[in-house]
Amino acid sequence: MNIVLSDEKFKKIDANLEVILVFDKKLENLEQDKALLEILNFKAEDEESILLPEGKKIYVGCEKKELDNIRIATSAAVKKFKATKFKTLKIELVDDNEEYLSAMVEGFLLGNYEFTKYKSSKKEKSKQEIIIHTNNITKDLKHILKESIEICESVNMVRDIVNTPPDDFYPDIMASHAVDLAKECKIECKVYDDKYLQDKGMGAMLAVARASRHKPKLIHLTYSPKRIKKTVVLVGKGLTYDSGGLSLKPSDFMVTMKADKSGGSVVMGIMRAVAKLGLPIEVHGIIGAVENMIGGNAYKPDDVLVAKNGTTIEVRNTDAEGRLVLADCLCYAQDNIKDIDYILDFATLTGACVVALGEYTTGIMGHNNKIKHQMFDAANSSGELVGSLPFNRYLPKLLKSEIADISNISSSRYGGAITAGLFLDKFIYEENKDKWLHLDIAGPSYVEKPWGYNPHGASGSGVRLAVSFLKSLL
Ligand code: BES
Ligand code: ZN
Ligand code: ZN
Repeated sequence: MNIVLSDEKFKKIDANLEVILVFDKKLENLEQDKALLEILNFKAEDEESILLPEGKKIYVGCEKKELDNIRIATSAAVKKFKATKFKTLKIELVDDNEEYLSAMVEGFLLGNYEFTKYKSSKKEKSKQEIIIHTNNITKDLKHILKESIEICESVNMVRDIVNTPPDDFYPDIMASHAVDLAKECKIECKVYDDKYLQDKGMGAMLAVARASRHKPKLIHLTYSPKRIKKTVVLVGKGLTYDSGGLSLKPSDFMVTMKADKSGGSVVMGIMRAVAKLGLPIEVHGIIGAVENMIGGNAYKPDDVLVAKNGTTIEVRNTDAEGRLVLADCLCYAQDNIKDIDYILDFATLTGACVVALGEYTTGIMGHNNKIKHQMFDAANSSGELVGSLPFNRYLPKLLKSEIADISNISSSRYGGAITAGLFLDKFIYEENKDKWLHLDIAGPSYVEKPWGYNPHGASGSGVRLAVSFLKSLL
């Protein structure tokens, strides 16, 4: 879907279809179509859209003039457009105000996404174009359009990766994607194999990988522009498949676990966006790409593992594997990257986070309230949803082990998202405690019932949130 700006008189723009956003459920101003829309029962509620083929108009409800309502409305519009064979669509920039442009573009490009790679009969893809009208094409508007397109393409790249089935996407493939991405974005990429992990004593990550025929990979992407205002480290859980290991998942829970690579994939998406936008921030993306499988060689409940920082871990459940991979990746990051300002980790870490916050919301955890507030602000401006889950003095005790330094699961059924976050905390060095934020994206990263501008499957959530966060640091 191509999107362009035009400052020709709106009426003169030659397009096959026109979109009209109807705000506040007010049909009064719609002159000639009001009566027809009423007969057709169009109420102009959010997500409601209707195509009037004779007048070549798509009416879309938009209950409030707020960014997320606009994203949802333009997403509804593009779905109607896509279902036709019309080539061009025009729409007025809301209030001719540049602050609405990125929301409109996001609705169009994220709402238009489809994953059809595995469908044998593909709909023929005709090139369609959306023309956004403004009275004055400023430099700012052009810049916003370009950035929004790059961000959406990064989100859609993440969706493609996460949607790819596990037999076609394993750690080696994740690494080659990272290498290709680095080439495309002119950033650096290092890939470390199991021999390196062995050498560096990364026994937790290695154990998780052991039963898989696919060897683990540690991926380190670096974007290092000339002008640097901050250094940010992103760490992602890249479980290309999570069967649960010997603590095997029940069948119904195993389906969708191709999405356990979302954290690592989101890190790739953020790296892409940051590089394309040319932000003056040094950004490192560390991804632990591993497959959690079963077999005679599998790691077991009762095993004791030694992580890179020497911490011993009692395994009591092999399905709590993401925290083991992240433990070593967090140590790797802190051991190898200098002058860190922020460490953010992204992981589909716990079902408990989804129980706590619902499937739309990312759980954020950490010691530093200022970073949490910065992330809340980033959520507000990006349209992603976050909720804070608080640490406290009692919960860490639930991770006590009789035999090792820490257990990989809590001794309580309650507060599982937070105890998982506290497990990670064990691997954040003292000097970095206040720089770290853990983001549990288990809820929003995979969509089973479409919502907002997210179709079924991977959502790519985390990319827009992180880009807003990074921009707010400048
Ligand atoms: N990948 C899962 C978490 C998950 C669950 C992500 C549902 C997305 C949707 C993770 O590795 C896991 O299995 N966690 C366990 C932890 C438990 C064993 C302490 C869980 O949440 O049940
Ligand atoms: Zn698991
Ligand atoms: Zn997992």
